[in-house]
Amino acid sequence: MRMRAAVLEEFGQPLVVQELELAEPRAGEVLVRLEACGVCHTDMYTASGVDPSGYAPTVLGHEGAGVVEAIGEDVGDLRVGDHVVTLFSPQCRECVHCLSPKTNICLAIREQQGKGYLPDGTARLSRPGGEPIRHFMGTSTFAEYTVMPQIALAKVSPEAPLDRACLFACGLSTGLGAAMFTAKVEAGSTCVVFGAGMVGLGAVAGARLQGADQIVCVDLSAERLEMARHQGATDVMLGGEDTVGQILEMTGGFGADYTFEATGLVGVMRQAVEAARMGWGLATMCGVAGKGETLDIVPRLLITGRRVCGSSFGGVKGRDQVPQLVQRYLDGDIDVDAFLSHRITLDEVNTGFDLMHAQDGIRSVIGFG
Ligand SMILES: NC(=O)c1ccc[n+]([C@@H]2O[C@H](COP(=O)([O-])OP(=O)(O)OC[C@H]3O[C@@H](n4cnc5c(N)ncnc54)[C@H](O)[C@@H]3O)[C@@H](O)[C@H]2O)c1
Ligand SMILES: [Zn+2]
Ligand SMILES: [Zn+2]
Repeated sequence: MRMRAAVLEEFGQPLVVQELELAEPRAGEVLVRLEACGVCHTDMYTASGVDPSGYAPTVLGHEGAGVVEAIGEDVGDLRVGDHVVTLFSPQCRECVHCLSPKTNICLAIREQQGKGYLPDGTARLSRPGGEPIRHFMGTSTFAEYTVMPQIALAKVSPEAPLDRACLFACGLSTGLGAAMFTAKVEAGSTCVVFGAGMVGLGAVAGARLQGADQIVCVDLSAERLEMARHQGATDVMLGGEDTVGQILEMTGGFGADYTFEATGLVGVMRQAVEAARMGWGLATMCGVAGKGETLDIVPRLLITGRRVCGSSFGGVKGRDQVPQLVQRYLDGDIDVDAFLSHRITLDEVNTGFDLMHAQDGIRSVIGFG
């Protein structure tokens, strides 16, 4: 079929919206008509050419939500008409990682996905002339339609508006999950969240849902800190050199039970480790650091009981837990509307990057149709 998609033709250049060919879903695959897609940092990062594993040409986009249009052979769990959220982090429910409660990093299709292909090693995307175009993050949702493996689609309640549901495809679930599934914040605890973008605000909301007593949010923007208060932060603070000292002061000199880093800056990651409590403080890293950067930790901080972990997609097992998170939104537990700052069309996708670059709003969402 023919459809319109935003293609990264060349690194560092604006995406080019054009007609592409999309082949039918094969065995285990599903054709999804996208209704909405958020614009995330990872798309911009890849478009810039800085990501060492990036490739072009490709169709970017990974925060998608839409409706199942057609299914290939051997698709058991999804039917035409189902509402789905796309998962760059799939869940096959069979590999050794999926069978373990300790991780959400499914091993089933990693290799081909990383190369830009569907699990059988081929692409469904091509130019009208025939030249194949690679998929991005297994999703390629800056497009009217996508073909994805069924293990990378979460079936969500049809009651959830898809322009909100799409935020659960990446940033929001990453933040919520970091608090709920990776750190498993305990009720009554003290949390510090560094960064009040989509991920950090999600972590604030997740800490609140877990019943944390004190949630401190640190950012450089007063406006974003106001949003953090709205999501449940009990204290907010402008970040700087002395942030760790201020947090220690607020916590009787000990530090917080849980800290979360959601900036991607290694200097802030270090602050998150240093602000964690002696004895049992857990520092969870969500941000993606630049190529070659390393995190400096004084080992004494670890010997005295602080722990450090990372969190990919918030530790969320996508097919099982994204629908549960969306349900909590429908139940009124999470204010998702507050994150949706700009609605744009596919043709305005580069404007989405500009808005993100200018830190204008939390999320721009592309609406199709
Ligand atoms: N782990 C994952 O699976 C995953 C998924 C999505 C995004 N990410 C990463 O998470 C990070 C955050 O993403 P986002 O969409 O929320 O980004 P964002 O840019 O919207 O938010 C980052 C925030 O950090 C704040 N900040 C900058 N310097 C600071 C400092 N010194 N102290 C405190 N705050 C500071 C900024 O003001 C901004 O509000 C990025 O690195 C992104 O790549 C990771
Ligand atoms: Zn993302
Ligand atoms: Zn798996």
